[in-house]
Amino acid sequence: MHQHGSDCLDLVARRYSCRRFRDEQISDDELGVLLEAARLSPSARNLQPTRLCVVQKAEGLAKIDRCTACRYGAPTVIIAAYDERRSSHPVPPKGPETCDFGDIDTAIALTNMENAAASLGLAACWVGAFDHDLVRELFRVPEPYRLVELLMVGYPDMEPSPKHGERRALAEMVAREAFSDAGVA
Ligand SMILES: Cc1cc2nc3c(=O)[nH]c(=O)nc-3n(C[C@H](O)[C@H](O)[C@H](O)COP(=O)(O)O)c2cc1C
Repeated sequence: MHQHGSDCLDLVARRYSCRRFRDEQISDDELGVLLEAARLSPSARNLQPTRLCVVQKAEGLAKIDRCTACRYGAPTVIIAAYDERRSSHPVPPKGPETCDFGDIDTAIALTNMENAAASLGLAACWVGAFDHDLVRELFRVPEPYRLVELLMVGYPDMEPSPKHGERRALAEMVAREAFSDAGVA
């Protein structure tokens, strides 16, 4: 059940993956809001390893189209990576599930940018389905940087897809006091 008066929940509920964009470019001010949302994001040990590359020129967008089928006509693409030399690694004791926190740090920045886009009436789509080697080559991403995702951004030219509303029930996601899979279908 949604909490009344939650600006955060209103915003989170408004966000959806956009897979058709208008041609019109976003303004520099709007781009600035997205980038500031990324800059203010938390990161493990505040090491801030995320590095972004904004692509808006026709030549760059054509290169993106060689790397993924998922640009969806977005006029702005943000390549999101992190600097492995800067990112924090879990300290022992640790289990096999742990990963380099750079991925997590960068995912938080992406999430905040996507939510910032929604707050401005823009929309975005995370894209993990891209040729990492080709992005590395075409955009000259140096070796210590690990690519994470591409973020497609622009003015939406579609309503949320029906699948967007498909979410598991809270009981399938949340246990109380002891971890269990009771209630999971
Ligand atoms: C890590 C990650 C990678 C994703 N990669 C792609 C992708 O390559 N192509 C795509 O069209 N959508 C991609 N998406 C969007 C998801 O498909 C989408 O978030 C999900 O279906 C839920 O829909 P919604 O965002 O509209 O709520 C990705 C999302 C995440 C979080």
